[in-house]
Amino acid sequence: MRTQVGIVGAGPAGLMLAHLLHLQGIESVVIELRDRDYVEKRVRAGLLEQNTVQLLTESGVGQRLQREAMHHTGNYLRTPEWTHHLDMEKLVGRSIWIYGQQEVVKDLIAARLEYDDPLLFEVADVAVHDLDSERPRITYTHEDAQQELDCDVIAGCDGFHGICRGAIPDGVLTSYERAYDFGWLGILADAAPATDELIYAWHPNGFSLYSMRSPTVSRLYLQVPADEQLDDWSDERIWAELQTRQASEGWQVNEGPIVDKGITPMRSFVCEPMQYGRLFLAGDAAHIVPPTGAKGLNLAMHDVHVLCEALVDLLRSGNRTGVDGYSERCLRRVWRRTSRTT
Ligand code: FAD
Ligand code: PHB
Repeated sequence: MRTQVGIVGAGPAGLMLAHLLHLQGIESVVIELRDRDYVEKRVRAGLLEQNTVQLLTESGVGQRLQREAMHHTGNYLRTPEWTHHLDMEKLVGRSIWIYGQQEVVKDLIAARLEYDDPLLFEVADVAVHDLDSERPRITYTHEDAQQELDCDVIAGCDGFHGICRGAIPDGVLTSYERAYDFGWLGILADAAPATDELIYAWHPNGFSLYSMRSPTVSRLYLQVPADEQLDDWSDERIWAELQTRQASEGWQVNEGPIVDKGITPMRSFVCEPMQYGRLFLAGDAAHIVPPTGAKGLNLAMHDVHVLCEALVDLLRSGNRTGVDGYSERCLRRVWRRTSRTT
Protein backbone atom coordinates (compact mmCIF):
# COMPACT_ATOMS: atom_id res chain seq x y z
CA MET A 1 0.00 0.00 0.00
CA ARG A 2 1.09 3.59 -0.60
CA THR A 3 -0.01 6.92 0.81
CA GLN A 4 1.26 10.46 1.15
CA VAL A 5 1.13 10.68 4.96
CA GLY A 6 1.21 7.59 7.19
CA ILE A 7 -0.26 8.52 10.58
CA VAL A 8 0.49 6.35 13.61
CA GLY A 9 -2.18 6.79 16.32
CA ALA A 10 -5.87 7.74 16.23
CA GLY A 11 -5.96 10.02 19.26
CA PRO A 12 -6.89 13.70 18.89
CA ALA A 13 -3.57 14.53 17.17
CA GLY A 14 -3.64 11.76 14.55
CA LEU A 15 -7.33 12.12 13.73
CA MET A 16 -7.20 15.90 13.48
CA LEU A 17 -4.10 15.81 11.28
CA ALA A 18 -5.81 13.31 8.97
CA HIS A 19 -8.88 15.56 8.80
CA LEU A 20 -6.92 18.76 8.06
CA LEU A 21 -4.88 16.97 5.37
CA HIS A 22 -8.06 15.62 3.79
CA LEU A 23 -9.43 19.17 3.52
CA GLN A 24 -6.24 20.06 1.60
CA GLY A 25 -6.63 17.09 -0.74
CA ILE A 26 -3.72 15.16 0.81
CA GLU A 27 -4.10 11.39 1.30
CA SER A 28 -3.34 9.69 4.55
CA VAL A 29 -3.71 6.32 6.24
CA VAL A 30 -4.30 6.28 10.01
CA ILE A 31 -3.37 3.16 11.98
CA GLU A 32 -4.39 2.63 15.62
CA LEU A 33 -3.46 -0.03 18.16
CA ARG A 34 -6.79 -0.08 20.01
CA ASP A 35 -10.33 -0.79 18.84
CA ARG A 36 -12.78 1.97 17.96
CA ASP A 37 -14.89 1.50 21.07
CA TYR A 38 -11.85 1.88 23.32
CA VAL A 39 -10.63 5.16 21.78
CA GLU A 40 -14.16 6.58 21.74
CA LYS A 41 -14.61 5.84 25.45
CA ARG A 42 -11.19 6.78 26.83
CA VAL A 43 -11.88 9.43 29.49
CA ARG A 44 -9.25 12.17 29.51
CA ALA A 45 -9.26 15.87 28.70
CA GLY A 46 -12.27 18.11 28.88
CA LEU A 47 -11.11 21.71 28.76
CA LEU A 48 -10.78 23.11 25.26
CA GLU A 49 -9.16 26.47 24.63
CA GLN A 50 -10.42 29.06 22.19
CA ASN A 51 -7.88 28.14 19.46
CA THR A 52 -8.90 24.46 19.61
CA VAL A 53 -12.60 25.26 19.39
CA GLN A 54 -11.94 27.63 16.51
CA LEU A 55 -9.89 25.01 14.62
CA LEU A 56 -12.53 22.29 15.11
CA THR A 57 -15.32 24.67 14.07
CA GLU A 58 -13.58 26.20 11.06
CA SER A 59 -12.56 22.76 9.79
CA GLY A 60 -16.19 21.60 9.82
CA VAL A 61 -16.16 19.17 12.77
CA GLY A 62 -17.52 21.53 15.41
CA GLN A 63 -21.28 21.24 14.90
CA ARG A 64 -21.98 19.00 17.91
CA LEU A 65 -19.40 20.89 19.97
CA GLN A 66 -21.21 24.16 19.21
CA ARG A 67 -24.48 22.59 20.39
CA GLU A 68 -23.29 20.64 23.42
CA ALA A 69 -20.09 22.21 24.81
CA MET A 70 -20.36 24.28 27.99
CA HIS A 71 -18.91 27.75 27.50
CA HIS A 72 -17.16 29.16 30.59
CA THR A 73 -15.86 32.71 30.79
CA GLY A 74 -13.90 32.12 34.01
CA ASN A 75 -13.35 29.82 36.98
CA TYR A 76 -13.25 29.81 40.78
CA LEU A 77 -10.26 29.62 43.10
CA ARG A 78 -11.09 28.27 46.57
CA THR A 79 -9.43 27.75 49.96
CA PRO A 80 -11.21 26.68 53.17
CA GLU A 81 -11.56 30.43 53.98
CA TRP A 82 -12.64 32.00 50.68
CA THR A 83 -13.82 31.51 47.11
CA HIS A 84 -12.79 33.97 44.41
CA HIS A 85 -14.17 34.15 40.88
CA LEU A 86 -11.74 34.92 38.06
CA ASP A 87 -13.45 36.40 35.03
CA MET A 88 -10.96 35.36 32.35
CA GLU A 89 -12.93 36.91 29.53
CA LYS A 90 -12.89 40.30 31.25
CA LEU A 91 -9.28 39.98 32.36
CA VAL A 92 -7.62 38.60 29.21
CA GLY A 93 -10.38 38.35 26.62
CA ARG A 94 -10.21 34.53 26.45
CA SER A 95 -12.68 31.86 27.48
CA ILE A 96 -12.86 28.05 27.54
CA TRP A 97 -15.22 25.27 26.52
CA ILE A 98 -15.94 22.05 28.38
CA TYR A 99 -16.36 19.14 25.94
CA GLY A 100 -14.94 15.66 26.56
CA GLN A 101 -11.89 14.53 24.59
CA GLN A 102 -13.76 11.35 23.70
CA GLU A 103 -16.48 13.51 22.11
CA VAL A 104 -13.84 15.25 19.97
CA VAL A 105 -12.48 11.82 19.03
CA LYS A 106 -15.99 10.55 18.14
CA ASP A 107 -16.65 13.61 15.95
CA LEU A 108 -13.33 13.18 14.12
CA ILE A 109 -13.85 9.45 13.57
CA ALA A 110 -17.36 10.10 12.23
CA ALA A 111 -15.98 12.71 9.80
CA ARG A 112 -13.24 10.36 8.62
CA LEU A 113 -15.64 7.48 8.05
CA GLU A 114 -17.97 9.75 6.10
CA TYR A 115 -15.32 10.50 3.48
CA ASP A 116 -14.17 6.90 3.59
CA ASP A 117 -10.40 7.38 3.90
CA PRO A 118 -8.43 4.55 5.58
CA LEU A 119 -8.61 4.41 9.38
CA LEU A 120 -7.48 1.03 10.67
CA PHE A 121 -8.13 -0.04 14.25
CA GLU A 122 -6.51 -2.95 16.11
CA VAL A 123 -3.23 -2.97 14.24
CA ALA A 124 -0.24 -4.67 15.90
CA ASP A 125 3.57 -4.92 15.57
CA VAL A 126 3.84 -1.35 14.31
CA ALA A 127 7.34 -0.26 13.25
CA VAL A 128 8.64 2.69 11.22
CA HIS A 129 11.62 2.40 8.83
CA ASP A 130 13.91 4.41 6.51
CA LEU A 131 13.05 7.65 8.27
CA ASP A 132 15.99 9.54 6.79
CA SER A 133 15.09 8.57 3.22
CA GLU A 134 12.56 10.08 0.76
CA ARG A 135 10.36 6.97 1.15
CA PRO A 136 9.82 6.08 4.82
CA ARG A 137 7.76 2.95 5.51
CA ILE A 138 5.43 1.67 8.21
CA THR A 139 5.06 -2.06 8.78
CA TYR A 140 2.23 -3.53 10.88
CA THR A 141 -0.11 -6.45 11.22
CA HIS A 142 -3.82 -6.01 10.52
CA GLU A 143 -6.45 -8.75 10.51
CA ASP A 144 -3.66 -11.35 10.80
CA ALA A 145 -1.90 -10.12 7.64
CA GLN A 146 1.46 -8.36 7.58
CA GLN A 147 1.28 -5.00 5.82
CA GLU A 148 3.74 -2.48 4.49
CA LEU A 149 2.80 1.15 3.91
CA ASP A 150 5.11 3.30 1.75
CA CYS A 151 4.78 6.99 2.62
CA ASP A 152 6.12 10.41 1.66
CA VAL A 153 6.19 11.29 5.35
CA ILE A 154 5.19 9.68 8.65
CA ALA A 155 3.42 11.48 11.48
CA GLY A 156 4.07 9.97 14.91
CA CYS A 157 0.85 10.78 16.77
CA ASP A 158 1.06 7.72 18.98
CA GLY A 159 1.11 9.35 22.41
CA PHE A 160 3.72 9.20 25.16
CA HIS A 161 4.01 5.38 25.14
CA GLY A 162 4.04 4.99 21.35
CA ILE A 163 6.86 3.62 19.20
CA CYS A 164 7.67 6.55 16.89
CA ARG A 165 9.80 8.64 19.25
CA GLY A 166 11.85 5.55 20.17
CA ALA A 167 12.56 4.85 16.47
CA ILE A 168 14.67 8.02 16.21
CA PRO A 169 18.38 7.08 16.42
CA ASP A 170 20.23 7.66 19.69
CA GLY A 171 21.85 11.05 20.01
CA VAL A 172 19.31 12.94 17.87
CA LEU A 173 16.83 13.92 20.58
CA THR A 174 17.36 15.77 23.81
CA SER A 175 14.70 14.87 26.38
CA TYR A 176 13.69 16.93 29.38
CA GLU A 177 11.65 15.10 31.99
CA ARG A 178 10.29 15.73 35.46
CA ALA A 179 8.20 13.28 37.47
CA TYR A 180 6.22 14.80 40.33
CA ASP A 181 5.71 13.07 43.67
CA PHE A 182 1.94 13.22 43.39
CA GLY A 183 -0.73 11.94 41.04
CA TRP A 184 -4.32 12.84 40.17
CA LEU A 185 -7.20 10.60 41.09
CA GLY A 186 -9.96 11.44 38.61
CA ILE A 187 -13.60 10.37 38.65
CA LEU A 188 -16.49 10.75 36.26
CA ALA A 189 -19.89 10.70 37.99
CA ASP A 190 -23.51 10.78 36.93
CA ALA A 191 -24.23 13.85 39.04
CA ALA A 192 -25.28 17.35 38.02
CA PRO A 193 -22.38 19.76 38.75
CA ALA A 194 -23.11 21.92 41.82
CA THR A 195 -21.18 24.77 40.22
CA ASP A 196 -21.56 26.79 37.02
CA GLU A 197 -17.78 26.96 36.41
CA LEU A 198 -14.67 24.96 37.43
CA ILE A 199 -13.44 25.21 41.03
CA TYR A 200 -9.68 24.89 41.68
CA ALA A 201 -9.43 24.29 45.45
CA TRP A 202 -6.44 24.42 47.79
CA HIS A 203 -6.76 22.49 51.08
CA PRO A 204 -4.23 21.28 53.70
CA ASN A 205 -5.13 17.68 52.63
CA GLY A 206 -4.15 18.49 49.03
CA PHE A 207 -5.51 20.04 45.86
CA SER A 208 -8.85 19.18 44.27
CA LEU A 209 -10.66 20.26 41.11
CA TYR A 210 -14.38 20.34 40.41
CA SER A 211 -14.87 20.04 36.66
CA MET A 212 -17.69 18.68 34.53
CA ARG A 213 -18.57 17.17 31.17
CA SER A 214 -22.24 18.12 30.77
CA PRO A 215 -25.16 19.48 32.83
CA THR A 216 -25.62 15.94 34.22
CA VAL A 217 -22.03 14.64 34.43
CA SER A 218 -19.34 15.80 36.87
CA ARG A 219 -15.59 15.26 36.54
CA LEU A 220 -13.60 15.66 39.76
CA TYR A 221 -9.94 15.26 40.69
CA LEU A 222 -8.04 14.74 43.96
CA GLN A 223 -4.30 15.20 44.42
CA VAL A 224 -2.90 11.92 45.83
CA PRO A 225 0.63 10.57 46.46
CA ALA A 226 2.34 9.29 43.29
CA ASP A 227 2.30 5.66 44.48
CA GLU A 228 -1.36 5.70 45.60
CA GLN A 229 -3.38 2.51 44.94
CA LEU A 230 -6.83 2.97 43.42
CA ASP A 231 -8.11 0.01 45.48
CA ASP A 232 -7.58 2.09 48.63
CA TRP A 233 -10.14 4.62 47.41
CA SER A 234 -13.71 3.38 47.80
CA ASP A 235 -16.42 5.60 46.29
CA GLU A 236 -17.42 6.65 49.82
CA ARG A 237 -13.86 7.75 50.64
CA ILE A 238 -13.58 9.71 47.38
CA TRP A 239 -16.81 11.63 48.01
CA ALA A 240 -15.91 12.31 51.66
CA GLU A 241 -12.50 13.69 50.65
CA LEU A 242 -14.01 15.82 47.88
CA GLN A 243 -16.56 17.24 50.35
CA THR A 244 -13.69 18.10 52.73
CA ARG A 245 -11.37 19.65 50.16
CA GLN A 246 -14.10 21.55 48.27
CA ALA A 247 -16.04 22.65 51.40
CA SER A 248 -17.72 26.03 51.33
CA GLU A 249 -20.38 27.28 53.72
CA GLY A 250 -23.95 26.29 52.81
CA TRP A 251 -22.81 24.36 49.71
CA GLN A 252 -21.92 20.75 48.87
CA VAL A 253 -20.48 18.71 46.02
CA ASN A 254 -23.34 16.82 44.28
CA GLU A 255 -22.76 13.08 44.60
CA GLY A 256 -23.90 10.32 42.23
CA PRO A 257 -22.82 6.97 40.77
CA ILE A 258 -19.13 6.96 39.79
CA VAL A 259 -18.85 5.59 36.24
CA ASP A 260 -15.08 5.88 35.71
CA LYS A 261 -12.11 6.29 38.04
CA GLY A 262 -8.35 6.26 37.58
CA ILE A 263 -5.05 7.65 38.79
CA THR A 264 -2.84 9.64 36.43
CA PRO A 265 0.83 10.20 37.28
CA MET A 266 2.05 13.77 37.00
CA ARG A 267 4.84 14.17 34.52
CA SER A 268 6.37 16.89 32.37
CA PHE A 269 8.27 15.73 29.29
CA VAL A 270 9.60 17.50 26.23
CA CYS A 271 11.78 16.13 23.44
CA GLU A 272 13.75 18.35 21.10
CA PRO A 273 13.52 18.38 18.12
CA MET A 274 10.10 16.92 17.32
CA GLN A 275 11.30 15.54 13.99
CA TYR A 276 13.88 13.35 12.33
CA GLY A 277 14.20 13.02 8.55
CA ARG A 278 10.67 12.38 7.30
CA LEU A 279 9.19 11.49 10.70
CA PHE A 280 7.33 14.25 12.54
CA LEU A 281 6.12 13.79 16.12
CA ALA A 282 2.96 15.57 17.28
CA GLY A 283 1.06 15.83 20.58
CA ASP A 284 1.88 13.61 23.56
CA ALA A 285 4.40 11.65 21.44
CA ALA A 286 6.67 14.69 21.74
CA HIS A 287 5.59 16.43 24.95
CA ILE A 288 3.53 15.89 28.09
CA VAL A 289 2.19 18.63 30.30
CA PRO A 290 0.74 17.44 33.64
CA PRO A 291 -3.06 17.14 33.32
CA THR A 292 -3.54 19.89 35.94
CA GLY A 293 -2.66 22.44 33.26
CA ALA A 294 -5.35 21.23 30.82
CA LYS A 295 -2.95 21.87 27.97
CA GLY A 296 -2.05 18.54 26.32
CA LEU A 297 -4.93 18.22 23.90
CA ASN A 298 -4.80 21.92 23.08
CA LEU A 299 -1.06 21.69 22.31
CA ALA A 300 -1.66 18.56 20.22
CA MET A 301 -4.20 20.48 18.13
CA HIS A 302 -1.73 23.33 17.64
CA ASP A 303 1.04 20.90 16.56
CA VAL A 304 -1.07 19.26 13.87
CA HIS A 305 -2.37 22.58 12.59
CA VAL A 306 1.24 23.73 12.07
CA LEU A 307 2.27 20.31 10.71
CA CYS A 308 -0.56 20.23 8.18
CA GLU A 309 0.43 23.59 6.70
CA ALA A 310 4.07 22.49 6.55
CA LEU A 311 3.22 19.17 4.86
CA VAL A 312 0.97 20.86 2.29
CA ASP A 313 3.91 23.07 1.25
CA LEU A 314 6.31 20.10 1.17
CA LEU A 315 4.07 17.69 -0.72
CA ARG A 316 2.57 20.16 -3.20
CA SER A 317 5.58 22.23 -4.10
CA GLY A 318 8.63 20.72 -2.42
CA ASN A 319 8.90 23.81 -0.20
CA ARG A 320 10.74 22.75 2.99
CA THR A 321 10.46 26.00 4.96
CA GLY A 322 7.49 24.83 7.02
CA VAL A 323 8.80 21.36 7.82
CA ASP A 324 12.27 22.67 8.67
CA GLY A 325 10.78 25.10 11.19
CA TYR A 326 8.06 22.74 12.48
CA SER A 327 9.74 21.71 15.70
CA GLU A 328 10.90 25.17 16.68
CA ARG A 329 7.48 26.71 16.05
CA CYS A 330 5.65 24.10 18.15
CA LEU A 331 8.19 23.95 20.95
CA ARG A 332 8.06 27.71 21.46
CA ARG A 333 4.43 27.27 22.49
CA VAL A 334 5.10 24.05 24.44
CA TRP A 335 7.86 25.63 26.55
CA ARG A 336 5.62 28.57 27.42
CA ARG A 337 3.22 26.03 28.98
CA THR A 338 5.81 23.78 30.66
CA SER A 339 7.97 24.55 33.67
CA ARG A 340 11.54 25.45 32.57
CA THR A 341 12.76 23.47 35.59
CA THR A 342 11.68 20.27 33.78
P1 FAD B 1 -3.15 10.17 22.70
O1 FAD B 1 -4.48 10.72 23.08
O2 FAD B 1 -2.36 9.44 23.73
O3 FAD B 1 -3.33 9.29 21.41
C1 FAD B 1 -2.33 8.43 20.92
C2 FAD B 1 -2.96 7.28 20.19
O4 FAD B 1 -1.96 6.44 19.63
C3 FAD B 1 -3.78 6.39 21.12
O5 FAD B 1 -5.06 6.17 20.58
C4 FAD B 1 -2.96 5.11 21.23
O6 FAD B 1 -3.77 3.96 21.44
C5 FAD B 1 -2.29 5.09 19.86
N1 FAD B 1 -1.04 4.31 19.81
C6 FAD B 1 -0.10 4.15 20.76
N2 FAD B 1 0.90 3.36 20.32
C7 FAD B 1 0.58 3.02 19.05
C8 FAD B 1 1.21 2.22 18.07
N3 FAD B 1 2.37 1.60 18.31
N4 FAD B 1 0.60 2.05 16.88
C9 FAD B 1 -0.59 2.66 16.61
N5 FAD B 1 -1.25 3.43 17.52
C10 FAD B 1 -0.66 3.62 18.71
N6 FAD B 1 -5.42 18.16 27.86
C11 FAD B 1 -6.11 19.30 27.64
O7 FAD B 1 -5.79 20.03 26.68
N7 FAD B 1 -7.17 19.69 28.45
C12 FAD B 1 -7.55 18.95 29.53
O8 FAD B 1 -8.52 19.28 30.20
C13 FAD B 1 -6.81 17.75 29.84
N8 FAD B 1 -7.15 16.98 30.88
C14 FAD B 1 -6.53 15.77 31.07
C15 FAD B 1 -6.92 14.98 32.12
C16 FAD B 1 -6.31 13.72 32.32
C17 FAD B 1 -6.72 12.88 33.48
C18 FAD B 1 -5.30 13.27 31.41
C19 FAD B 1 -4.65 11.91 31.57
C20 FAD B 1 -4.90 14.06 30.35
C21 FAD B 1 -5.49 15.33 30.17
N9 FAD B 1 -5.12 16.16 29.11
C22 FAD B 1 -5.75 17.36 28.93
C23 FAD B 1 -4.08 15.73 28.14
C24 FAD B 1 -4.68 15.10 26.88
O9 FAD B 1 -5.57 14.07 27.21
C25 FAD B 1 -3.56 14.58 25.98
O10 FAD B 1 -2.59 15.58 25.83
C26 FAD B 1 -4.08 14.12 24.60
O11 FAD B 1 -4.71 12.88 24.70
C27 FAD B 1 -2.94 14.04 23.57
O12 FAD B 1 -3.44 13.54 22.35
P2 FAD B 1 -2.52 12.69 21.37
O13 FAD B 1 -3.36 12.38 20.20
O14 FAD B 1 -1.23 13.37 21.20
O15 FAD B 1 -2.17 11.37 22.19
C1 PHB C 1 -10.86 18.33 33.01
O1 PHB C 1 -12.07 18.65 32.99
O2 PHB C 1 -10.47 17.19 32.74
C2 PHB C 1 -9.86 19.35 33.44
C3 PHB C 1 -10.26 20.66 33.57
C4 PHB C 1 -9.33 21.62 34.00
C5 PHB C 1 -8.02 21.24 34.27
C6 PHB C 1 -7.62 19.92 34.11
C7 PHB C 1 -8.54 18.97 33.68
O3 PHB C 1 -7.13 22.19 34.70
